[in-house]
Amino acid sequence: MSYFSLAQRVSEASAVDPKVLAGLYGLIVRVPLVGAVYRQMVDGVLQLGVTRGDILDLGTGPGHVAIQIGQQRPHLRIVGLDLAAHMVRQATRNAARTSLDGRGLWPQADAHHLPFGDGSLDLVISTFALHHWSEPLQILNEIARVLRPGGCYYIADLCRQPSLAQRLFAYASIPAISLPFGSYLGYGGYYESLRAGYTVAEAEALLARSNLPRGLVAPRSTWFVPILTISSQNPSEKVRSNGLSRPDPTEAATKNQGSDQAQTASQGRA
Ligand SMILES: C[S@@+](CC[C@H](N)C(=O)[O-])C[C@H]1O[C@@H](n2cnc3c(N)ncnc32)[C@H](O)[C@@H]1O
Repeated sequence: MSYFSLAQRVSEASAVDPKVLAGLYGLIVRVPLVGAVYRQMVDGVLQLGVTRGDILDLGTGPGHVAIQIGQQRPHLRIVGLDLAAHMVRQATRNAARTSLDGRGLWPQADAHHLPFGDGSLDLVISTFALHHWSEPLQILNEIARVLRPGGCYYIADLCRQPSLAQRLFAYASIPAISLPFGSYLGYGGYYESLRAGYTVAEAEALLARSNLPRGLVAPRSTWFVPILTISSQNPSEKVRSNGLSRPDPTEAATKNQGSDQAQTASQGRA
């Protein structure tokens, strides 16, 4: 398969370990275009309407999304978990500079084995980490285990179905990011992450195979980044469909049953 093809998923399972990358993630959110993407993620989570209790952010990185949610929801306690020690350190530092008032915990742990009791959390979120998970179904089932009955989930990640503009942007990132940084750090760039993303159908199949309660897979792209979300159903949420071929995203509502597409997802996982 050609490097430039997005037809098949190419896994990028790993922690984001190099210290310098943790630093770059900390800086990149200050770029206005990127900041807008994160604000969209935060808005999507806030629309679920969870205002009290405990929220867990899986693969929190520098903690930007979890911290913003904590700032806007003063009655939520925040746990931001990451596999990479440098990320956890940076999230801890970032949170200390904000007004979270000790409402944040930043453990280093693997999302495949969550260190929380059954039914102990009100909301589990994750942004741009799903494509790093080697066993996504195991993590979805862990989320289902730790959510209290009626708890909500919101998982956003790159969608391997870019529009033409999004695809060109991704190709343009190869000489700018993948070649200089990827080869130097022994790590992929933005394009490699996009190749590791799921299509809407693959994400629907994953959700259908998991123990998570009924949810919705929907496109929430910006003009330059194709994004999909897997989230608890929220009828009040307005779903945007720019950049993806699926005409009516509400048709993507998925029931928590086995489906033919489950096979597609398991084949799509590396
Ligand atoms: C692309 S970064 C995204 C960080 C942050 N959520 C954001 O949106 O800026 C993905 C993060 O997931 C973490 N990660 C990857 N696999 C993980 C796992 N199995 N358990 C916990 N964290 C993981 C990586 O270390 C990295 O910090």
